[in-house]
Amino acid sequence: MEQTPELVAHRGFNLIRGTHDPHDVDCISKLEMRDSDVFVVTYPKSGTIWMQQILLLLEAKGDVAAVSAANKSCNGDVVSWIEVIGSREAFMTAPSPRLRVSHLPYHLMPVALTQKKGKVIYVARNPKDVLVSYYYFHQLANMLETPRSFEDFFEKFLRGDVFGSSWFQHLKTWYSHKDDVNMLFITYEEMIQDLNAAVRSISTFLGKELTEEQLASVVKYSTFGNMRKIPQANYEQVSDDMFNHPVGKFMRKGTIGDWKNHFTVAQNDIFERVFQSEMKDFPVSFTWDKTDVA
Ligand code: A3P
Repeated sequence: MEQTPELVAHRGFNLIRGTHDPHDVDCISKLEMRDSDVFVVTYPKSGTIWMQQILLLLEAKGDVAAVSAANKSCNGDVVSWIEVIGSREAFMTAPSPRLRVSHLPYHLMPVALTQKKGKVIYVARNPKDVLVSYYYFHQLANMLETPRSFEDFFEKFLRGDVFGSSWFQHLKTWYSHKDDVNMLFITYEEMIQDLNAAVRSISTFLGKELTEEQLASVVKYSTFGNMRKIPQANYEQVSDDMFNHPVGKFMRKGTIGDWKNHFTVAQNDIFERVFQSEMKDFPVSFTWDKTDVA
């Protein structure tokens, strides 16, 4: 079995060499939290940048021009990934509210979250669609090795031999702690099916008070079509060092069920067997069960 060269296994979780520093990541668990802190936690490719845009728009009461003006290159300038080198130091002295995203597993995140300080929004997505999205992202992102083939990447994903490690572990561990922290658990599929309702529940969870008009603006500027037109939201201005722009876009398709265009029948059988075995005791059935699981 060939190892993926960019990965560094650290305390049961794969980090990316050069993007994350294991020592720095270890310091995240000791961070002091403020009540106004918000972490969006996702397994990669589950809707992180979508939620970045929603948080920024809620904060700006729907004023899209203000959101774009605050972010020079991309929304990650302001709502950064806490585990990326340099982000933790900036977080410690940043003004409130500190809005951040993370792909870290529960055991590497700030322990102070368990004192119900700060909030977590966990976004889950059908892992079959995550796999497809991640396959394309590995072609776009220069810090990740371009997969030799879809088949090869399929196996790596199921082995958890990717940044983020096992999708199943990530989701199950975070979910099992949902009552230990202030958490809103939401799925990408819910957001696709009713963005208006999703934005309202996120707004309520964060204790925001927006008018109907402001909420409508948050929804409007967080649709796939509109986000794609906003350079900061769609990451088109990120440097060529990071992204190989000619091969694709961060905001690729934004749909449910693209896995059906990629999985063979045999791959779907394998995926289903792993899914059933990993998730058999998991207490939640997902919205995608009704439409997508063959
Ligand atoms: P696809 O590759 O399937 O298109 P992340 O931000 O966690 O890396 O997730 C990226 C995925 O979320 C991509 O999926 C991207 O297109 C999708 N996405 C981002 N913004 C979206 C939006 N407003 N509506 C629907 N999907 C969105």
